[in-house]
Amino acid sequence: MPFTLHDRLFVLTGAGISAESGLATFRGSGGLWNGYRVEEVATPEAWLADPELVWRFYSMRRRDALAAQPNIAHIALAEIEQQLGNRFYLCTQNVDDLHERAGSQRVHHMHGTLFESRCVHCNVPFPDKALYTAATDLPLCLQCNAPVRPHIVWFGEIPLDMEGIYRELDRATVLLVVGTSGSVYPAAGFVHIANQRGIRTVYVGPEEPLNAEAFDETVLGSAIVALPTLLKSLSS
Ligand code: APR
Repeated sequence: MPFTLHDRLFVLTGAGISAESGLATFRGSGGLWNGYRVEEVATPEAWLADPELVWRFYSMRRRDALAAQPNIAHIALAEIEQQLGNRFYLCTQNVDDLHERAGSQRVHHMHGTLFESRCVHCNVPFPDKALYTAATDLPLCLQCNAPVRPHIVWFGEIPLDMEGIYRELDRATVLLVVGTSGSVYPAAGFVHIANQRGIRTVYVGPEEPLNAEAFDETVLGSAIVALPTLLKSLSS
């Protein structure tokens, strides 16, 4: 048993947890970056060079996420949160809203959220599910008329509320990481921080992540099979 109901659980999820909901992961064949270069759609420079292409990319992702449903791995996390209450913290690199739709409440989207946008000047995120696919469609701020961008943390930008994340990591007794390749920092470094603190670390996913050697335990399997089983053993 890697942990118990007395633990304080910090969960980090990546694209793999939404894979069985039909949302493409980023890397590997058929991945989201296939056909796109990261520098073309997910950097501040890309936005300055071609906002229409950037909005087309994120509109496609909005459309796909709107059509997707949470799977039993998202639901298993929401259920364990019910039991752990504020001893549960979910930090996700995902920008979809499947954790929330599964019932999770303590969710932090460190890379932003697909269904919010923000004015580049006012910088205040607001809910937005619209699809912007043509140059004539691109949204402008109602207050100041400046361009509105996706509320997404792009490569070269700082993830949201790192202070809050480190505070939670500092008081957790277990780090559970699900469905992430361990290739993007700072998230890929959480396991090293956990190791320095001597807390238990568990990885769940169908293949070893790049930082696999840092984990105490690796449970190989799809999140929809391995995660509910792992969390059930915790609550039984
Ligand atoms: N269940 C669990 N994990 C899975 C499943 C599944 N059914 N299918 C695939 N995976 C795993 C893969 O083995 C891989 O390790 O999901 C991981 C997906 O890795 P990436 O595509 O690299 O996604 P992620 O780690 O979330 O990317 C991190 O990189 O591109 C940026 O900002 C983007 O948040 C993203 C960040």
